[in-house]
Amino acid sequence: MGIIDQNHQNAEKLAAAKAAVKLVKNGDIVGLGTGTTATFAIKELGKLVAEGLNIKAVASSIRTEELAKSLGIEILNLGEISSVDISIDGADEFTEGLDLIKGGGGALFREKIVASMSKNAIIVTDASKKVKKLGSFTVPVEVIPLAYQYVFDQITKLNGKGKKRTTDHQDYFTDNGNLIIDADFGLIDDPKALSNDLNKIDGLLAHGLFIDLTAQVIMSEQSEIIIFK
Ligand code: 5RP
Repeated sequence: MGIIDQNHQNAEKLAAAKAAVKLVKNGDIVGLGTGTTATFAIKELGKLVAEGLNIKAVASSIRTEELAKSLGIEILNLGEISSVDISIDGADEFTEGLDLIKGGGGALFREKIVASMSKNAIIVTDASKKVKKLGSFTVPVEVIPLAYQYVFDQITKLNGKGKKRTTDHQDYFTDNGNLIIDADFGLIDDPKALSNDLNKIDGLLAHGLFIDLTAQVIMSEQSEIIIFK
């Protein structure tokens, strides 16, 4: 992607993030996503907190927690609360039916917990993330290391082509100490059925298909905000 395209995409991400933070109310517990688009939203929230907005938050990753704290946003322990009022996160792909692929940044497990706990799960994206069918982006699968080969083989049985995620030629480990398999299922005709099949695999902690977890997608395209819900 050229620098002009990247600037354009960042402008869209920022616009979507600004639209989403307007939905946050005083007193809310806010779920904070992970990734570049979520980061725009967290920084916008940080500005509002500095101006007096009173919120508490839960973070979907260690890097998000560190960023939020640096901006003066109070972070609660995710394991000690029962629900989140509103969450704001990005996505790698979404359809108009609000099915998503997430986990490009490796935070899918905590992101899924936050989305599941959220009364109002908002996804913020630039226009490049909208697809007719999910699957051009591979489905990230978080796997407990000792079950790696078993889960890999089960993914193969579901006609998925798995690839262990690495960073600098080393295994990539999530915040939870697990591995990620990026699984290519081709274009996915029935994301819900695939999600259900993946959910049955022992040792698979979470996968990046987010089905029935999203209240609305706020997408920015050019200078327009488009809402899918
Ligand atoms: C991280 C995610 C991100 O939300 C997703 O990868 C989108 O990231 P970005 O906003 O940087 O494009 O799921 O695990």
